[in-house]
Amino acid sequence: MRLLVCGGAGFIGSTFVRLRLAEHGDEVTVLDKLTYAGRLENLRDVASEIRFLHGAIEDPAAVAKALGPHPPEAIVNFAAETHVDRSIADPDAFIVTNMQGTHVLLEAARERGLRYVQVSTDEVYGSIETGSFTEESPLAPSSPYSATKTGADLLVSSYFHTYGLETVICRGSNNYGPRQYPEKLIPLMILNAFAGDRLPVYGDGRQVRNWLFVEDFGRGIGRALTHGSPGEAYNCGGPDECDNLAVVKRILELTGADGSLIEYVTDRPGHDRRYSLSSAKLQGLGWRAQTRFEEGLERTVQWYRGNEWWWESIRSGAYRDYYESHYGRPLN
Ligand code: NAD
Ligand code: TYD
Repeated sequence: MRLLVCGGAGFIGSTFVRLRLAEHGDEVTVLDKLTYAGRLENLRDVASEIRFLHGAIEDPAAVAKALGPHPPEAIVNFAAETHVDRSIADPDAFIVTNMQGTHVLLEAARERGLRYVQVSTDEVYGSIETGSFTEESPLAPSSPYSATKTGADLLVSSYFHTYGLETVICRGSNNYGPRQYPEKLIPLMILNAFAGDRLPVYGDGRQVRNWLFVEDFGRGIGRALTHGSPGEAYNCGGPDECDNLAVVKRILELTGADGSLIEYVTDRPGHDRRYSLSSAKLQGLGWRAQTRFEEGLERTVQWYRGNEWWWESIRSGAYRDYYESHYGRPLN
């Protein structure tokens, strides 16, 4: 297929690009604003196989340029501001990218009659104590991040209902794996453990997440892209659930770091207790998660151990300022 992948320099987008090139021989253009989370390093090994354009999805001229001169068959939109804590501290960019940017892409898809895939999240459903969310569950987001992702999903659905645009939404649970920016739980804890920094656990650490290895999500999105029915949403949940404290303790074992590094810190405001997705509908399209959490976490720790070149510049750059202002202490 010929694809425009927006946000393809990020964690999940770059994994998706790599998979589509290797497993499907797709022709890929990436449009990415290269925010703090977007890095050309993420595409280093496939740079010669893709067309890369530096630009924002909320900029119609940049989007038009990315779609010409040979329009793709589909747009797959990963571009987003993605960190809940940043959305609580400063939601502005979330509204511009996640909502306005999605609108610009939908208009471009409508003008050209392109298939449109929106990459979304389990967080649009809010928190669930027991059981799992299906695609029929009500949308009840609780953070500015999840609210803007929900707004985008609703806009996407409206373009199907109103204009007949071929839209598909794919909602993933918490991803982990190589190349995840270390503001997120798993890479933050791995790199802090390597450095002997404290491991900041929010609240009681008993919040549960439904962990999905990033390659499984990439293949799930690919399945929704090629086999999803227009107007439908598909959940893509990981095979295992685990509370944060258990995740951190396993990272201590895998890195050999000391348990005394765990530090309980002030809880996140409005912290969602548990996420859980039923993926039966996507499984009906032939998708299955292939990586159990135990194996995926081990692979992830190994990847960070072997790729200091990738994270050293992050940990010594602007991330330090973010870390100090958010956690109230400097990194080692
Ligand atoms: P990420 O933060 O690693 O990457 C986001 C990418 O989008 C970066 O390359 C960034 O430069 C780019 N970007 C940001 N604003 C942009 C803009 N205005 N225009 C163009 N590009 C822009 O994010 P990720 O974890 O790879 O998430 C990708 C998508 O998957 C997001 O839509 C997110 O909501 C969704 N998602 C993430 C998870 C998760 O656990 N990380 C789970 C489910 C769904
Ligand atoms: P995160 O990786 O931010 O993903 P999300 O909030 O989108 O699920 O956080 C995962 C879980 O880990 C969440 O319950 C918050 C918790 N957490 C901590 O306990 N400490 C931290 O330093 C971070 C970043 C997250």
